Amino acid sequence: MDVLRIRGGNALHGEVFVGGAKNACLPLLAATLLTDEPCVLRNVPDLSDSRFMLEILRHQGALVEPIGANAWRVTAGTLQPKTPYELVRKMRASICVMGALVARLKRAEIPLPGGCVIGQRPIDLHVKGLRKLGCTIENRAGMMRIDASHARGAYVFLGGRYGSTVTGTANLVMAATLTPGVTRIDSAACEPEIGDLCRMLVKMGAKISGVGSPTLLVEGVEKLSGCEHVVIPDRIEAGTHLLCGAITRGDVTVRGAVTEHLGAFLDKLDEAGVPVETLSPTAVRVRGDLVKDFRPIDIVTLPHPGFPTDLQAQFTALLALVPGISIVTERIYPNRFMHVPELLRMGADIAIEGPSAIVKGVPALSGAPVMASDLRASAALVLAGLAASGETWVQRIYHLDRGYEKFERRLAALGADVVRLRQEDMPSELRSEA
Ligand code: EPU
Repeated sequence: MDVLRIRGGNALHGEVFVGGAKNACLPLLAATLLTDEPCVLRNVPDLSDSRFMLEILRHQGALVEPIGANAWRVTAGTLQPKTPYELVRKMRASICVMGALVARLKRAEIPLPGGCVIGQRPIDLHVKGLRKLGCTIENRAGMMRIDASHARGAYVFLGGRYGSTVTGTANLVMAATLTPGVTRIDSAACEPEIGDLCRMLVKMGAKISGVGSPTLLVEGVEKLSGCEHVVIPDRIEAGTHLLCGAITRGDVTVRGAVTEHLGAFLDKLDEAGVPVETLSPTAVRVRGDLVKDFRPIDIVTLPHPGFPTDLQAQFTALLALVPGISIVTERIYPNRFMHVPELLRMGADIAIEGPSAIVKGVPALSGAPVMASDLRASAALVLAGLAASGETWVQRIYHLDRGYEKFERRLAALGADVVRLRQEDMPSELRSEA
């Protein structure tokens, strides 16, 4: 197992180019199963999650070929309907092959994914949507057997207690593309990653209107064809790098992003007193070095275009150093605060009250050995480590590798003192596990 050793205190300076969005590429890869013709996807980030999704496609029977840097060709000739628990257990997002299999094969056998460290994460809305289309779904020993042979377009309201569902929308749109009749999805997720999926499906011959809005109309067609598509830039990676500039009082420009996907996040940086310059529709510069007074703020995570839950942990790391009291409320995953106990070990002053973190800014953080619990919590610990005095050792960084390509190398290029080491290289008295 690898660890990151961060010697904090360097202000980061320079430019970063954003890679393809993990949360767009996973459903886009699943969409390649909708046709027997080759699909080419470019700007696929080299992450453990994308590699894992490619593995699932191979398991379903697709031919998966690398065709250059960050580019893959998938040809899904003959498919098999069953996805084993072993695969879905390792990556929840593998559930997004369900919609494609249902559409193409009219049946699928896929396990219920179970919870994860950030919450219960049920898939009741995915199931409700498929049932509305007329699928019959049996649950036997944790395995869902879905029969879509009588499926027809229908009205589906996809809103739930926490808003819509992103992968649920992806599944339902994919299922509806090859289902006869018109499906209307209300309270569809409006995340940019869903817009990207719809755009690829349209290239494949799907009939979808309302893209980007909470109402999607999908008219089923008989067959979809191959296509070529470029994955949108990762807004969460972009936001994380901008926070690196802010927290280290540096000067970081992110290029190759879609700044309009970052609206609520950039607004909160501005409110917190961090000078933000939108240089173009694809470039943003954060001037941590010009901060006069940080200001405490309130953040509430919400479905897009609200503040994204996937940047909550990282922003909390910044607020830990902002004088005054900030309140961070999670409306998507009320328990997504696994980073907080680790930030406390670094000297932060944060109390959890129900779905909120009450963050009392401290003047400084100090490096410590900390444990990553999930992808975005890991990024928050890296951010804290960059600003802290002394050494921070982040363990279990395989979580980080799920969503950030070459993270430590890119941070080092901006001037951070960060290296990836084997756990054996870590002083034994600092290790939390053998
Ligand atoms: N929910 C239900 N029922 C459902 C589905 C969801 O109650 O059937 C609840 C969830 O428990 C959660 C909320 O609705 O409280 C939103 O869940 P959603 O289904 O939208 O999440 P997801 O599709 O499983 C994607 C991203 C997450 C991101 C969320 C929210 C992918 C692969 N994952 O998850 O990304 O946090 O949307 O934006 O797209 C990450 O990248 O770190 C990550 C966790």
